[in-house]
Amino acid sequence: MNSTELLSALQWRYATKKFDASKKIGAEDWKILEQSLVLSPSSYGLQPWKFIVVQNPEIRSQLKAASWNQTQVTDASHYVVLATKEKITEQDVSDFIQLNSDVRGVPAEKLKGYHDLILADLVNGPRSAIIETWAQRQAYIAMGFIMETAAMMKIDTCPLEGLDPSAYDAILDLKGTGFKTVAAVALGYRHGEDGYAHAKKVRYPTEKVVQYL
Ligand SMILES: Cc1cc2nc3c(=O)[nH]c(=O)nc-3n(C[C@H](O)[C@H](O)[C@H](O)COP(=O)(O)O)c2cc1C
Repeated sequence: MNSTELLSALQWRYATKKFDASKKIGAEDWKILEQSLVLSPSSYGLQPWKFIVVQNPEIRSQLKAASWNQTQVTDASHYVVLATKEKITEQDVSDFIQLNSDVRGVPAEKLKGYHDLILADLVNGPRSAIIETWAQRQAYIAMGFIMETAAMMKIDTCPLEGLDPSAYDAILDLKGTGFKTVAAVALGYRHGEDGYAHAKKVRYPTEKVVQYL
């Protein structure tokens, strides 16, 4: 993809209001989009999230009712709910250090400094008081990653925060799992009649939002 194509993909992307319910994302394409979530970066690499791909039409209807009746919830090809951990525990940190040790072949003892650093920050430090917000921030990075990847693939998306997170938690049986709904992303193909597809982008001038020092 050259620079012109990259910029035009970014211009082409818009928050799709009306999806064509008859068009589905192919399995190969979906695998790439799924990996864009898995490969998203997170603070310390902790990945305090779960991505729930809701395929069941009945559950999608219930979620739509809990999302200001936005039609993207039911009409999009794929619907991903981003959920994050309510708490980060000592066990979470140990599991993560063990994963690092297994994947990179480094003895866990050698990672003790890293383990203690995370513990002192997220579990016992000042950030433990805002840990739910901290985890939610990580989810928004994944949201950005999947939307950007989709745009490069000419697949449409709509991020959704217009939803009732606690109603979602009940519908998705998240209560008691340690995870809570943050937001969602609908993915698929725009409907030919979505007027927003041709609306001009409303953005402040670059000089106003990008500062060089
Ligand atoms: C975190 C977040 C939540 C959003 N929630 C909704 C939503 O619930 N429904 C919707 O139609 N658009 C939603 N949007 C889309 C924004 O309104 C849209 O991105 C913004 O107006 C800029 O337009 P553009 O994305 O088409 O360039 C959301 C966007 C973000 C980033």
